[in-house]
Amino acid sequence: MTIPNMITIDGPAASGKSTLGKNLADWLDYLYFDTGVMYRAVTWAALHAGISMDDEAAVSALSETIDIDVLPPTQDDGRAYDVLADGQDITWDIRRAEVDGGVSVVAAYPGVRKALTAQQRRIGLRGKVVMVGRDIGTVVLPEADLKIYLEASVAERARRRFNEIKNRGGQASMDAIRENLMERDRIDSTRDVAPLCAAPDAIILDSDQMDANRVLEAAKKLVKKHQE
Ligand code: CDP
Repeated sequence: MTIPNMITIDGPAASGKSTLGKNLADWLDYLYFDTGVMYRAVTWAALHAGISMDDEAAVSALSETIDIDVLPPTQDDGRAYDVLADGQDITWDIRRAEVDGGVSVVAAYPGVRKALTAQQRRIGLRGKVVMVGRDIGTVVLPEADLKIYLEASVAERARRRFNEIKNRGGQASMDAIRENLMERDRIDSTRDVAPLCAAPDAIILDSDQMDANRVLEAAKKLVKKHQE
């Protein structure tokens, strides 16, 4: 077989998908596409426009008109990419607690998913891509050659997110982070459209006892096995 052309990484909040996705894409010289950024951008834009998260019609309409761009990083401040919404740099704004608090409600709206999934699929079908999210292996790119579902315990995921926020100089409470991860997982896995779940042909990696390097090594092995 050949090197997988499309690789999907799905899994619950803060399971290390973004880190693995970026590292794997760099290793393969593929495009790294973190779809969570798009749901976060719509959520940020709704908050910014004073639209209530509960206003499904207004949030859905916003998702159809907003222009989200993900470009190579222009600043050396720890970012992997620039995120622009209608030309405004919102790279760090989309990581704020308010966005964490609203994003799963926004991502459950069928209209929002329809608008964003179409864009994701168009980019994914170009190939040479590592795409990261919740429904990539099941809905966005079901034809992908290699699908990874990354898991870790809530305690480990909360610890990682806590360190991430601390490392970029932010304030965080471990309890609040744990609550938010559990609430997002609950909404993400029980919604009607494209719920979080492993595709039947996904390979499940439990990263609880593995650091980022070991997870990357495990994923590289899967890529190599696919080539045999
Ligand atoms: O980085 P973290 O795991 O905290 O979250 P993320 O990947 O940035 O995704 C934020 C939220 O967007 C998730 O909790 C989901 O509600 C939603 N999402 C989704 O529904 N489908 C995707 N393909 C990606 C994200």
